[in-house]
Amino acid sequence: MIVVIGDVLVDILVLPDLQKAEQPEGLAIRSGGSAANTAAWIAWLGTSSTFVGCVGDDGPGKMLVDELQLQGVRTAVRRVEDRASGAVLVQVSPDGERLMKSSRGANQELSPTDLASLPLKNWSAVHMSGYALLGKSGLDMLAAASALAKKTSAILSFDPSSESVVESIGVKSLRAALTQSGVDLLLPNACEARALTGKTLLEEAAADLLAVAPRVLLKNRSGPAIAASCGALHSVPTTALDAVDTTGAGDAFDAGALVALAMGTDLDNACIGGHTTAGLAITYWGGRPLPGTFFSPNYSQSGEGE
Ligand SMILES: Nc1ncnc2c1ncn2[C@@H]1O[C@H](COP(=O)(O)OP(=O)(O)OP(=O)(O)O)[C@@H](O)[C@H]1O
Ligand SMILES: [Mg+2]
Repeated sequence: MIVVIGDVLVDILVLPDLQKAEQPEGLAIRSGGSAANTAAWIAWLGTSSTFVGCVGDDGPGKMLVDELQLQGVRTAVRRVEDRASGAVLVQVSPDGERLMKSSRGANQELSPTDLASLPLKNWSAVHMSGYALLGKSGLDMLAAASALAKKTSAILSFDPSSESVVESIGVKSLRAALTQSGVDLLLPNACEARALTGKTLLEEAAADLLAVAPRVLLKNRSGPAIAASCGALHSVPTTALDAVDTTGAGDAFDAGALVALAMGTDLDNACIGGHTTAGLAITYWGGRPLPGTFFSPNYSQSGEGE
């Protein structure tokens, strides 16, 4: 079981071909949220996942929970009264890159008490998206996730989610909180790694982050990712693809890497698991697995899959 804590939102995708006032197509509505996406990809990869988050007591909130459950995710989602469900406007450019503006809504209410009644059995990892720190509980969410990971002997993994999360918490405070939490795995993208370290060269940034966590997987779009642990830095390339929509690529990468690690692979192979899952996520609109599709991971196993 991998427990994923953080954001869930409605994605409103503005596609590149939306040009005029009335068109037959050009907008797409999908379930999203970085943490919820990761939970959905973990379930799709065949490993149990539980998503912890908050939605509004409204129609979109019901849709978000129903869809997670349909995607095989167990949900510990609180419906918050007097708050709208979170939503994000995603402007997709022709090369698949995005400009995002969000209204976080009920996600702001996520609190350590939301973690209080989870069944504490067979956990391999607790994963948190950085967006979880933007709500009213701030860094207390990280401390609560850390306590749960320790209690269940699970690894704690953290995706900073956005440069703006790093800016909003502050580099010093975030690094100190991560170190204190005993985070085992950091999953930043290139911008976040640079923001967290002040280093431009990604190898230097990854090496620097080993002072915060013993394992780092640094994602860099179609470029090689960096797998760093115990002072060893490996460049792990992927096949560059023409992306349709990179929404959720990093979230899918996290899922692939976490599932591979739960199955006992080393960090380099976890990185390949991340690339494989992310490489699929960028080939269509939205950040979640496509309904009706299946995947059987073929990792060499030396550990438990749950
Ligand atoms: N054009 C591409 N071709 C192949 N793989 C890609 C491409 N773009 C992204 N990926 C895959 O997605 C992974 C994550 O990409 P990226 O560096 O964009 O993360 P991210 O910025 O965290 O994404 P997100 O914004 O979805 O969180 C990469 O490591 C790679 O595996
Ligand atoms: Mg990301």
